[in-house]
Amino acid sequence: MNVSSDKTQEKMENSSETCNKKDELIEACETNLKTREYYQEKYQKLNEEEIKLHDDDGNPLFFNGVEVSKLSKSQLKKYRRMLKFEAVKKDKRAKERLKTKKRKHEAKLNNLDLGPTRKQLKRSRMANSSCKTSVVLDLSFDGLMIPKDLGKVIKQVLRVYTENRRSSTPMQLHITSFEGKAKAEMEKHNGYQHWDLNFHQTSYLDIFPREKLIYLTSESENIITTLEEDKVYIIGGLVDHNSHKGICYKKALEQGIQHGQLPIGEYFHMKHRKVFTINQVFEILLRVIEGKSFKEAFESTLPKRINIQPNKVDNEVHTNDGDAIEESESDNDDATS
Ligand SMILES: C[S@@+](CC[C@H](N)C(=O)[O-])C[C@H]1O[C@@H](n2cnc3c(N)ncnc32)[C@H](O)[C@@H]1O
Repeated sequence: MNVSSDKTQEKMENSSETCNKKDELIEACETNLKTREYYQEKYQKLNEEEIKLHDDDGNPLFFNGVEVSKLSKSQLKKYRRMLKFEAVKKDKRAKERLKTKKRKHEAKLNNLDLGPTRKQLKRSRMANSSCKTSVVLDLSFDGLMIPKDLGKVIKQVLRVYTENRRSSTPMQLHITSFEGKAKAEMEKHNGYQHWDLNFHQTSYLDIFPREKLIYLTSESENIITTLEEDKVYIIGGLVDHNSHKGICYKKALEQGIQHGQLPIGEYFHMKHRKVFTINQVFEILLRVIEGKSFKEAFESTLPKRINIQPNKVDNEVHTNDGDAIEESESDNDDATS
């Protein structure tokens, strides 16, 4: 009798806890709506209201080095746009914070794993990692790309960094030839200097013993089947839509270093050689380091829309010959943290 009443009591407590959490969620949503309304009103006001010429202490305000009171019509337009942008930024941050809070609540309610916490992430640094295998992102090709493609390279580098930070066994990550246009593009991302990543201005040839280097390239006749701990795997920092076909292969041959391709042809039927993006190559390596097989790593990394077929099935791989398997815009959303 006592046992059953205890159970009833426990059930009631659990359900009231769930109700509390639901209430909190509803409250969070309402706050979200209120925030939105608040900023919408704010933008409207910004459109209508007189632009402030002085700060609260009476000092003149400046925009791009010009006193706001002396701005031309077009400069004023830009200034208004900047003010709105600032307001939107705050709005976005507030929304993101609420979204994270909501996600955490829901995950807790459903006993879901949300990945590593900030605390865990702080601990999981390259220096503490059980993985000693190195990966180099070779950024020496910046002169061969139009600014848009160089921007894509850096975006992929950010994704590589995020993936590595989130891993329980991060790889030893290096960026080489980090100078010129590539560095300038990276400067757009605040705080990268503090990342857990090794930046080198020089080439990998000046950093690692030549015999340890393996340039990854889809043109190589060598198929990589295992990742070795003392080796340094180089990924070419290039988005070129196949306009520089074979460039990394040639580079490896010229420099007299080893080269190898990922073993996708071993597991999936391939009509054409398969070129991956920088972050895909890195993610495949990382999954293998974490304990997956190469086959599993390909399956979990490549976008679902890429129709890879298991070997021995006579089916064409749906991708352009030699062009990297680019991800969709949403796949490519900035995922840094
Ligand atoms: C978009 S690809 C660059 C393609 C470029 N045309 C080339 O010839 O290297 C970016 C990098 O990912 C790596 N990569 C792409 N596909 C690969 C594969 N199948 N095997 C090994 N490495 C690959 C290479 O290091 C390559 O430089």
